[in-house]
Order: sequence, then structure tokens, then C-alpha cells
Amino acid sequence: MINKRGFASDNNSGVHPEIMKAMIDANEGHTIAYGDDAYTERAKQKLYDHFGDDIDIYFVFIGTAANVLGLNAATSSWNSVICAETSHINVDECGAPEKFNGFKLLSVETPDGKLSVELIQKHMHGFGFEHHSQPKVISITQATELGTVYTVDEIKALSDFAHQNNMYVHMDGARIANAAVKLGLGFKEFTKDVGVDILSFGGTKNGMMYGEAILFLNKDLGENFKYVRKQGMQLASKMRFISAQFERYLSDDLWYRNAKHSNKMAQLLADQIKEIPQIKITQEVDANGVFAIVPSREIIEELKMEYFFYDWDESKNEVRWMTSFDTQEEDIHKFVDLIKKKLTT
Ligand SMILES: Cc1ncc(COP(=O)(O)O)c(C=O)c1O
Repeated sequence: MINKRGFASDNNSGVHPEIMKAMIDANEGHTIAYGDDAYTERAKQKLYDHFGDDIDIYFVFIGTAANVLGLNAATSSWNSVICAETSHINVDECGAPEKFNGFKLLSVETPDGKLSVELIQKHMHGFGFEHHSQPKVISITQATELGTVYTVDEIKALSDFAHQNNMYVHMDGARIANAAVKLGLGFKEFTKDVGVDILSFGGTKNGMMYGEAILFLNKDLGENFKYVRKQGMQLASKMRFISAQFERYLSDDLWYRNAKHSNKMAQLLADQIKEIPQIKITQEVDANGVFAIVPSREIIEELKMEYFFYDWDESKNEVRWMTSFDTQEEDIHKFVDLIKKKLTT
């Protein structure tokens, strides 16, 4: 049976053929384990080319691990991490950040998944008071879980504020490529150059099979991290298969081509949905997600039987449609036709 492309998640897509080939090519002979290999060196060099040499890089298997372990490097158990209510670390990591690190997450309601200095003020108190957890990190997601993208100025405002308050900035970049395409900027310009200290650099959602990177853009935070990664069970013995993927992903602009296509497909979907008056798009379509309110639960359930996707807020009939590097224009047209048909019958 052929797996049908749907709109559930960019994780539901397969592996880009160039990545698959790179993994097969890496499957030759023996190489030193645990990252002491030429693939890892070359993959790291690709990241240095983007971010500069003065960073520390650690590959891990999954995005949750990148977030949890990256945050570990900047915190003690008595700290707190400020994040959006909708952030992956808050709602989709089964409490792992808090369990593994002992710190407290302080979440903030946002209209669009983005934090701002104004919104986080409610948690900026209790410094030095032993009865309160001590705020130490502001964690933002780029692109956000709501498909929106922070501008450079928005990130800089948060970083400046964090640093003025002796705090750090962590960025969950599971979809950083989609954000880079939207902003029309290189990765460094909206991360390191504007004060992001720790970056979870994603690859899986944009064509890789698995593998994420933790980048200490503030290199001091990477000290002793090799022990943290090992204790966190994320030191891959056959590291070459993560590294070979990153090497390919960051070559010939594969990351860019994939994310550009994915964003374009979301835009196409949004443009077509906007022509359907019964459906309301609820968020800016900055990256590869479209959030929309559909008039009835019956229609949502019927659509899901043919194209799988997730509810976002069931109480409002709000759904999330994600596009991927392999979404085809034809998928969008057929899906939109189906929506129109369901709305008229
Ligand atoms: C915003 C965000 N961060 C991180 C992740 C990484 O998750 P995983 O641990 O499943 O790789 C995801 C995946 O859904 C995500 O959407």
C-alpha cells in the first residue's frame, strides 16, 4: 500500500532522496564510533560555515533531547524557564524538560505563539528570593508551533532583555529552515547575531531521517556538555549516520530548497482556503503550517478520513494543516476540492 501524503505533520513525510543516498553512501566499511569520524567533522564544518567557528556543536537523535539537554547546560534545578503556553517544551515533551533538569517551566499565553518582553513580565519577579524558582532562560520557538515567525527585532528585544537580567535565550529551531526562508536571512543573522545563546537546530522535519544538533552559540555554555549528552543517552555510537545526513542537508542548499518548497505549499493552501468564506485562517502563514477554523466537526472528521491532520483546538473546530518538503501542488488542489465538496453537500 502506498502511504498517502496528508497534512498532519512535516514529520509524517519520508526522507529526502539526497539524504537517503548520503546515508547509504556512509554505509561503507568501518569508521571510528561516537563522533570521532570524518563525516562528523565535515558536518560540523558545514555548521561552522553558517554560524562561525566560535560555537560548540553536539549532535543528538531527536528534538526533545536537543531542547532538554540544551536547556540543561544553562540551568540548575532551582531555575525556571519562561516559554510560550503552546511551546513544544511545555506541551509536547511529556514533562521531560522538568523531569530531566528539575527546573520549573513558566508558561505564557500568547496570541500567536510568540513571546515578547511585555508578555513575560508576569514571571519576572522573585529574583534572589529563595521561595521562588529563579528565572534563567527565555525559550522561544522559531518557526513557532503556530506557524508564525519571529522577526529579527523581536528576537533581539528578547535577548537584550534576557541578558540585562542575567538570563539566557534558548531557541527551539525544529523548523529553523522554514523561518530562515520566510525571513530571507542566513541562520546566523537571526540567532547568534541577535544574542541567542543555545539553539536546537532541527533537520528531521525538513527531509532528514533523524538527527538534530545542539548549538552553543554562546560557547561558554558548552563546557562539560559532552558529559551531559552521554548522561542524557544521546551520544550516538554510529554518529556517522546523523552526521552524513547533516552534511548533505547543509550542502547545495538542500535545507533551503526543502523549506522553500514547504513554505510555498503552505502559502498555496492558505491562498486557496482564503477563497472559501466558511473557513477562517487564524494565524499568519509565515512558515509551513496553516491554522484554520472549519465550520463543523462532521466535516473535519470526514476530511480526516481522506487526508490525515490534527485538531488544534477542538472546542473551536480549529485545525492544523502542515505541509512538507514533499507536498505536491496536486495534493493541495485535491484537498481543497474535497473541502469545497464537503461544504456544499
Ligand atoms: C516545535 C518543535 N520542537 C521540537 C520538536 C521535536 O520533537 P521530537 O522529539 O519528536 O523530535 C518538534 C516536533 O514535533 C516540534 O514541533
